[in-house]
Amino acid sequence: MGKQVISTPVIRRLPRYYRFLGELEREQIERISSRELAQRMGLSASQIRQDFNCFGGFGQQGYGYHVRELREIIGEILGVHEHTGVILIGAGNLGKAVAAHLDFQKRGCELIGIFDDNPLLAGTTTANLTIMPMETLESFCKQRKPQVAVLCIPKDAAQQLADKLISLGISGFWNFSHFDLRITNPDVIVENVHLGDSLMTLAYCMHRRNNET
Ligand code: NAI
Repeated sequence: MGKQVISTPVIRRLPRYYRFLGELEREQIERISSRELAQRMGLSASQIRQDFNCFGGFGQQGYGYHVRELREIIGEILGVHEHTGVILIGAGNLGKAVAAHLDFQKRGCELIGIFDDNPLLAGTTTANLTIMPMETLESFCKQRKPQVAVLCIPKDAAQQLADKLISLGISGFWNFSHFDLRITNPDVIVENVHLGDSLMTLAYCMHRRNNET
């Protein structure tokens, strides 16, 4: 498949399509119309058609979408078959939960190392990996060449650590640290995660609904 430029809002919807199509596959549904898929996902059929048209359509008039094929194509676009090396920094409450509960492999990534600067944590195990001291970060990166770092450290440590990680070859951050990283290198990708923003979106919707009734 050639390299197409897909807009960010469409990319943000792709994992959800991938997940729903996986559920359809598990239900042994072979094909689905954009209308049925839209109903299941709470989207409009035209939105779905528009999204899929961004990377070639693949629906057939009167036939709908072939579930397995569509899921494979979306999986390919998302890179779920890659084995991108990932390290996680900060094995506290959040870091341990992320390491233990997110299936990195299903998402094209492989968690290969966990680091923390607390000497009491070094040598303990989480998600089948032994937590390593920060002193070993450099040699680990030289040897294993991870591309992505998950930042589960406090805000005030984030920028310095990110700069160091970039110098060690990290080119993607999954940033939970609540700090807006200043990255000048255009090749470095940052995906910020703010669970609080999601909660505030819910709070806003509740507030609006309660004030309407
Ligand atoms: P925690 O205190 O349990 O864990 C932080 C860990 O980072 C500790 O084990 C500590 O030793 C380690 N650490 C601190 N500085 C470090 C450094 N420079 N290098 C390596 N390791 C270092 O805290 P928790 O609850 O796990 O939260 C971590 C961060 O994530 C906090 O900043 C918190 O605000 C943020 N957070 C973000 C959420 C989000 O939705 N993005 C949700 C929850 C927490």
